[in-house]
Amino acid sequence: MRQFLTNCEKIEYLAATAYRRLAANRGYDSHIRETFQALNKDEMAHARLVNLIQHLPGQDLEIVGQMAQEDGNVSLIFAQALLEVIDKENLTEVDALLMAIDLEKCFIKFHVNNAIDFHNPRIARLFKKLGHADQKHLDRLLSCLHWWGKIKRKDPSKMG
Ligand SMILES: [Fe+2]
Repeated sequence: MRQFLTNCEKIEYLAATAYRRLAANRGYDSHIRETFQALNKDEMAHARLVNLIQHLPGQDLEIVGQMAQEDGNVSLIFAQALLEVIDKENLTEVDALLMAIDLEKCFIKFHVNNAIDFHNPRIARLFKKLGHADQKHLDRLLSCLHWWGKIKRKDPSKMG
């Protein structure tokens, strides 16, 4: 269980870092940068939350159900790979949005496959909230991509 939570914290932190770096790209449209910035803030809050949960006494972390830990590793590897790509390549806005969309989809799958229930109802609620947050991120990224597509059709000179 501790290992699972450590992985969760790492995933949230890596996602936060990826979004921070994308938000820092001065070449991106300001609306897209603001979107990445908002997602960075959310992921930082998630990382802190998972960190706090890890400090709870053992009995609070008892769970009902099964964990699919390997999916945590998939999310970890995905988030790490995204960070490397951001560092090495100057992704276009569209590519950055598409990669972020894939990342959130991966996180959603991770939460679905780890639909574990904590004995402690408060912790169970917190964990469900983290899963819902990923869905909200995905919706936000998709609408940002849609918006960007419309802008580009109006003004094809915009790059990315
Ligand atoms: Fe998150």
